[in-house]
Amino acid sequence: MRAALEICHSAEPAGVRDDDAAGRAETTGDLSTMSRERVLIVDFGSQVTQLIARRVRETGVYSEVVPFQKAEEAFRANPPAAVILSGGPASVPDGDSPRAPQIVFESGLPVLGICYGQMTMAEQLGGTVESGHHREFGRAEVSVKKPSALFDGIWSEGSAYTVWMSHGDRITALPPGFEVKGASENAPFAVIEDEARRFYGLMFHPEVVHTPDGAKLIQNFVHKVAGIPSGWSMGAYRQDAIARIRAQVGKGRVVCGLSGGVDSAVAAVLIHEAIGDQLTCIFVDHGLMRAGEADEVVSLFRGHYNIPLVHVDAADTFLGALEGVTDPEVKRKTIGRLFIEVFEEEARKIGDVGFLAQGTLYPDVIESVSFAGGPSVTIKSHHNVGGLPERMNLKLVEPLRELFKDEVRALGRELGLPEAFVGRHPFPGPGLAIRCPGEITAEKLTALRQADTIYLEEIRKAGLYDTIWQAFAVILPVQTVGVMGDGRTYERVCALRAVTSIDGMTADFYPFDMAFIGRVANRIINEVRGINRVVYDVTSKPPGTIEWE
Ligand code: XMP
Repeated sequence: MRAALEICHSAEPAGVRDDDAAGRAETTGDLSTMSRERVLIVDFGSQVTQLIARRVRETGVYSEVVPFQKAEEAFRANPPAAVILSGGPASVPDGDSPRAPQIVFESGLPVLGICYGQMTMAEQLGGTVESGHHREFGRAEVSVKKPSALFDGIWSEGSAYTVWMSHGDRITALPPGFEVKGASENAPFAVIEDEARRFYGLMFHPEVVHTPDGAKLIQNFVHKVAGIPSGWSMGAYRQDAIARIRAQVGKGRVVCGLSGGVDSAVAAVLIHEAIGDQLTCIFVDHGLMRAGEADEVVSLFRGHYNIPLVHVDAADTFLGALEGVTDPEVKRKTIGRLFIEVFEEEARKIGDVGFLAQGTLYPDVIESVSFAGGPSVTIKSHHNVGGLPERMNLKLVEPLRELFKDEVRALGRELGLPEAFVGRHPFPGPGLAIRCPGEITAEKLTALRQADTIYLEEIRKAGLYDTIWQAFAVILPVQTVGVMGDGRTYERVCALRAVTSIDGMTADFYPFDMAFIGRVANRIINEVRGINRVVYDVTSKPPGTIEWE
């Protein structure tokens, strides 16, 4: 959160997002053709726009994010029930800064502008915005001047409430029809409203947790101002998704690559519910899974769900090709290439396959707003089945492309996936290969698996597993001197990593207490042959990444 909070009219950090969302030739749910009542969120490039979408969905209403450049098109294609304008790094007084499509204000729909969104709305409707000398970052107090539908049941006139501000500009003259409902020390127009036209503007960010009543303000906008009823639930989504999968696939055959992760598992179970044995899952076991993981996948799918599953034990192929490879990008590319080759061979054996299922999530679908327009640097080459749809002439089935990660977990529970599977930490496609800097050897992988198992066992025992986004061990290509009993040891170093994160794009290291780290280190050194030293990684992302390679 820390890094994500410099949001409005401030330099945005260089894109560190490196998910590879390739291979999206044809997809299932075209969001713009859905009939549900929805809130359209116009994205001006704030780092926390996705949080607005989540807060709206938490009210039981579907929401969709579109970049400002495409907002008019999306609006006309399928008019929403309400519009929210996000924050962003630009400055309204700059001549070429982005604007909301005028149709948004002419449609008669309720509009909520947040930060930059509030300021562009004010300017577009005849008010004035000024730059500079009005910076307000972090916690602030908003005093309520008059009642508003937004404040219903939460904020009362005459009282002050904590909010999170992050702006450099401010409104200096209101557009006609607007009045001030709340003010802070540096933002006399912190909450503005044109009640008759249902236009609302907030200078602060209600979508972040640092505005304690923010979720309720958004809920009031959605339910009380816009009058949109709750109807978006995982039960409803499941039925909707099943109908769409059936309509798309017909009698065709679908293959789905299982990775051992939550997304592909939920996608597979949902598709199986829709089309039964027209689905075949392929699990390419590259020999780089954690201890016991491959067996778990096989028994869950074959035993529990009775879903047709091809389990390919390709460990020798992968580990053979990785012999002597130390460069992280070469490792990633080698694994990615082999994965596609093995997968393709198995898919061809099934014969007559028309569709490839993928667990693509909404954050991969949302187009990021780019002001500069240039390509962002590749930090890491993620591997997935990108390229396969073209090579094999497959259409994509992506039943999760409207969901956030926590919604996928909720859908997994709805579908009856075991809690231990649904609540799992993310695991990268290249597996332990990228937790083994330097050369990958069978001996290092064995030690790594044992250390990782101990670490996670202790995290679970301490009740911390669900608080942590991801925790894992890394085995370093470094040996250090130690003393055990009366003897000298010269063995490897194991690094422990644990981070908290909202979406993997930014992360903070987890602040374990030292007694916990000491206990884990002790167990690893005593129980794992080949490791005589343990260190804890205290790097956040950025500047680090979550994985070591
Ligand atoms: P980084 O290391 O880039 O990781 O901070 C961000 C998140 O992505 C996961 N990750 C991957 N997931 N294929 C995946 O499916 C990959 O190649 C890959 N590399 C990293 C990582 O575990 C973290 O959750």
